Amino acid sequence: MEIIFKNVEHRYQLKTPFERLALEDVSLSIPSGQFVSLIGHTGSGKSTVIQHLNALLKPTKGSIQIGDRTIESGKKEKHLKEIRKRVGVVFQFPEHQLFDETVEKDICFGPMNFGVSEEEAKKRANELATIVGLPKEVLQKSPFDLSGGQMRRVAIAGILAMEPQVLVLDEPTAGLDPRGRNEIMNLISSLNKEQGLTIVFVTHSMEDAAQYADRIIVMDKGKVSMSGTPKEIFKQHEKLKEIGLDIPEPLQFILDLEQRLGVSLSHEAITFKKAVEEVTKLFGGQAHDE
Ligand SMILES: Nc1ncnc2c1ncn2[C@@H]1O[C@H](COP(=O)(O)OP(=O)(O)O)[C@@H](O)[C@H]1O
Ligand SMILES: [Mg+2]
Repeated sequence: MEIIFKNVEHRYQLKTPFERLALEDVSLSIPSGQFVSLIGHTGSGKSTVIQHLNALLKPTKGSIQIGDRTIESGKKEKHLKEIRKRVGVVFQFPEHQLFDETVEKDICFGPMNFGVSEEEAKKRANELATIVGLPKEVLQKSPFDLSGGQMRRVAIAGILAMEPQVLVLDEPTAGLDPRGRNEIMNLISSLNKEQGLTIVFVTHSMEDAAQYADRIIVMDKGKVSMSGTPKEIFKQHEKLKEIGLDIPEPLQFILDLEQRLGVSLSHEAITFKKAVEEVTKLFGGQAHDE
């Protein structure tokens, strides 16, 4: 299912003294099956974009096509529930939204709310525990007795239980330790590759965007400032620095090396693996196969 923004504007608290322009003339597309990363400074509009993906917010100008539905400014929309089911959003710090006595009940809540029987919901919760990497015994525990990484998994399982086609995650690794971050990134990547879910992923980590995304959308001051493949985006490192964004560490290392040694290296080396290959080539060696 494809999502297309056409000239979307969003003003919060429209026609009040607190009116605030958060998105301006945003056009973008999230093609079916892709892993799309949204990057940009705090306040650049990422979370606002995300809340339009399942019609939690509506544009104040322009239109948004979500599969076969079109959400337009100034039009009353009905049956948004169907959209909410197809586009699952995991908000920032999703563990704050856990509330039930047990993990199982928490995961079952969404689907049962959408009319799925308790039996079926429990079956899904059981399968999802495996998919998101939670031991089965965790299902009967209180979500509040889990580690940070496990709570994130429960929250993600709760959204997956609605069987969405698009999974949207707002900074899903924020506040986790490196191991927890890796585990969550691997989970999201496998949901994309193995289950075919479209992923929209907000991150502050340029390394994660470089490593996992098919496409990157760069937001700046409520507008789309760049969009393209990770290689296309990070090739424009000067422009990113102008916006005040970082580039992936491996690429920064390659740029530093070029300067120090007066050599010319590939700026497509945006992941650690590629950077190691470049450096190995430079010194005339051969990279070891994994
Ligand atoms: N509920 C709100 N009411 C008014 N302004 C808001 C609200 N939420 C966000 N904003 C403003 O909209 C802009 C974009 O915010 P946001 O989408 O949260 O950015 P990001 O997720 O990139 O940090 C910011 O200027 C922010 O202050
Ligand atoms: Mg945000």
